Amino acid sequence: MIPAVRGTHDILPGEIERWQHVERTARSLCDRYGYVEVRTPVIEREELFAKGTGETTDIVQKEMYSFTDKGGERITLRPEATPSMVRAFVEHSLEHALPAAKLYSMGPMFRYERPQKGRYRQFHQLDVEIFGLDDAAVDAEVIDLAWSLVRELGIEQIELLINSVGCADCRPAFQAALLAALGDDLPKLCQDCQRRAATNPLRIYDCKVPADQPIIDRLPHSIDYLDEKCATHFAAVRRHLDTWGIPWTLSHRLVRGLDYYTRTTFEILGRTLGAQNALLGGGRYDGLVKQLGGPDRTGIGFAAGLERLVLALPEGAGAGTTPRAFVAAIGEEARDEALRLLRELRQAGLAASMEFEGRSMKAQMKRADRLGARVTLIVGGDELARGEVTLRDMRGSEQRPVRRTEAVEAARSILGGR
Ligand code: HAM
Repeated sequence: MIPAVRGTHDILPGEIERWQHVERTARSLCDRYGYVEVRTPVIEREELFAKGTGETTDIVQKEMYSFTDKGGERITLRPEATPSMVRAFVEHSLEHALPAAKLYSMGPMFRYERPQKGRYRQFHQLDVEIFGLDDAAVDAEVIDLAWSLVRELGIEQIELLINSVGCADCRPAFQAALLAALGDDLPKLCQDCQRRAATNPLRIYDCKVPADQPIIDRLPHSIDYLDEKCATHFAAVRRHLDTWGIPWTLSHRLVRGLDYYTRTTFEILGRTLGAQNALLGGGRYDGLVKQLGGPDRTGIGFAAGLERLVLALPEGAGAGTTPRAFVAAIGEEARDEALRLLRELRQAGLAASMEFEGRSMKAQMKRADRLGARVTLIVGGDELARGEVTLRDMRGSEQRPVRRTEAVEAARSILGGR
């Protein structure tokens, strides 16, 4: 047996129903909020992430699946969707086709992380991005979509964290204050933090090393260094959230692990998840589109980890499959007629199954039960002769004959459907 690659998973019957439930809910919400779907390739040029996600991030420094292809090109399996979405927006000049582009995408991402519950090497995201809308109400709307998704899935014990990391104008003052406050404590921090202090001091807030935490907790807060425009914007975001009754908590440490964020950042945590508890995260990235060669358009979005949403779903979510009919054939000569009926049912839009091994009536009824059939249509020699089938309602176990010509409609009346 050749097992699956570490950190990857097969999603099997029994679990797939929960996935489909999450995906259906996500699509339906995105549609209601006015987002259109795009699908971008899983492979991109390595430089897209070096430039987009950022050279100083853990993702680019340690976690990318990159290789040189047979043509000598450096290729990366996407570790996140945002740079790909921006690339597609720029490459197809979507700012003309869609003046306020609201896009979403779903699919696999790849990060070479240490696998544990809720953290995998191949995982899946719902990614949502808006280009070209600057108003604080848009930030609030994106957060509302994220919040509504988690709520609509019935996930309890959630917490919305928000912060503002400022913009290119006010960030330098904050970074300077941060380094000044660190002062003599810098050599006491872990190696990673010392590297971060030199490359991107904001990353220090991401540090999880316990010994570093008391020092980091004393560091200044980005919202105290916002310029007037950023401060006004963030106040408006909070006001809109209040208007919609979405409860938020300000988290000074929420700088997020990617380099492109400006102004609003947010995460929704699931309290039942354990260590990897971020159900989703996102924020504004007003310079990224231009940085990746596009027009000067702002951006904001988030990505939700589908594995984590599935893990946090309540028991029994997504259960309840399409009601199904079963066709049972008694005897060889009834088999052709049963096959004809099976196809008629399917063509009429109903879910229908049959057993092809020619087993006993008892075995066929057992199969119908195992499949959870709501109705069984029995075709035997007697029925054939009378131009009928026997219709068995599997819940009450009542049986009655119906005209063969009316069999599909009789099944539909029990199963429902179009
Ligand atoms: P991120 O915080 O890196 O942001 O990932 C978003 C979500 O993906 C996380 O909150 C988590 O649920 C899930 N996730 C990340 N890594 C893993 C993993 N190894 N295993 C399982 N789930 C994982 C982004 O990716 C940004 N592109 C979000 C964004 C969109 N910002 C603006 N627009």
